[in-house]
Amino acid sequence: MKSSLKSIPARLRPLYRLAVKSRLNSYSPYSGHRVGAAIRTSDGSLFGGCNVENSSYGGTVCAERVAIQKAVSEGKTRVTEVLVVTDATPPWPPCGMCRQVIAEFAENAVIHTTNLKGMIETCRFEDIMPRAFTPSHLGKK
Ligand code: THU
Repeated sequence: MKSSLKSIPARLRPLYRLAVKSRLNSYSPYSGHRVGAAIRTSDGSLFGGCNVENSSYGGTVCAERVAIQKAVSEGKTRVTEVLVVTDATPPWPPCGMCRQVIAEFAENAVIHTTNLKGMIETCRFEDIMPRAFTPSHLGKK
């Protein structure tokens, strides 16, 4: 399905486009669900990711975590925005494990769940993971 940009706010289009493009690289022979993600870091950099599944199932990594790990491996540890795209309706939100990883690097993060039809829902990270366990509980940051 071709993605629709019409309903995506102009400011988010680069993030959306990157997530849609990254989704094409999804390695998902087991679930058959292609997921793309894109994140923005505090310096304005964008990083894309896709889900990378594994025959052990447990070794599967979600698109959001791939994007965050790419950013961290490039020295960018402050995530301000996360956008996820699937072909699902309603759009898929980040799973629990991804929320925990976002919590590690979130900088007042905003979460956008989207699909290829251009549906988009935006919320603050705190809304989908209130009272998160974060580095601050270990006296860090
Ligand atoms: N998946 C993601 O990549 N991100 C999410 O937020 C939800 C789930 C992937 C994991 C697995 O490859 C497939 O979607 C089905 O769960």
